[in-house]
Amino acid sequence: MIFDLDKDKALNETYKLMAQTIIPRPIAWVVTEDEGVVNIAPFSYFIGLSSEPASVLISVGHKPDGTPKDTLANIRKHQKCTICMVQESDLEKMHFSSKGVDKEVSEAEIFNIETETLVEGYPPMIKGVPSAYFCELNQEIDLGGGSTIPLVLNVKQIFVDDEVITDKKRLTISFDPIARIGKSYAFLGEEIEAPKIP
Ligand SMILES: Cc1cc2nc3c(=O)[nH]c(=O)nc-3n(C[C@H](O)[C@H](O)[C@H](O)COP(=O)(O)O)c2cc1C
Repeated sequence: MIFDLDKDKALNETYKLMAQTIIPRPIAWVVTEDEGVVNIAPFSYFIGLSSEPASVLISVGHKPDGTPKDTLANIRKHQKCTICMVQESDLEKMHFSSKGVDKEVSEAEIFNIETETLVEGYPPMIKGVPSAYFCELNQEIDLGGGSTIPLVLNVKQIFVDDEVITDKKRLTISFDPIARIGKSYAFLGEEIEAPKIP
């Protein structure tokens, strides 16, 4: 079966197709701030773009009323965000934080998500996460319309919890991440070594 996306513009169907075929997707648990309100939300249109310069991309959409999601509005206004990596034990809190709430309401408060300021000048990090990226907006990508806006972010500092660094000399990191599959989640399970190329 072929889905012609130019003919069938029903965004919902396209989302369903992409979300169930590009799998597993990593999850950026994004913290932003505005007027003292800490905003937290997960985004799975998330990918590492480059290590040099260190950069990632998230795509953030609009609310049902047509206004930008709070994360998008806050990044546009302050040019900064903190991206937390999600581990298995945070699944529930991360998922709850996707609830659409008013801009003046902090997901950190309503869902008891503890945060701490680690790097001055950036939004706080969610307590207990294995890793967090402190990012500055590089640019918005114009895809020629549409409601979801890709944001290129430069990564300025990376926090890694000492607990998940299993070998300091070789800088080996290991934690239990969560992936998004369609509208569900998956744990990664077994890690398999790369085969040797002959
Ligand atoms: C795991 C997960 C991944 C999500 N990924 C995205 C995404 O990539 N882009 C997006 O616009 N919304 C995504 N959402 C929905 C947002 O998290 C949701 O709209 C949230 O309320 C936005 O919050 P904000 O207005 O505080 O930014 C995702 C939700 C979940 C649960």
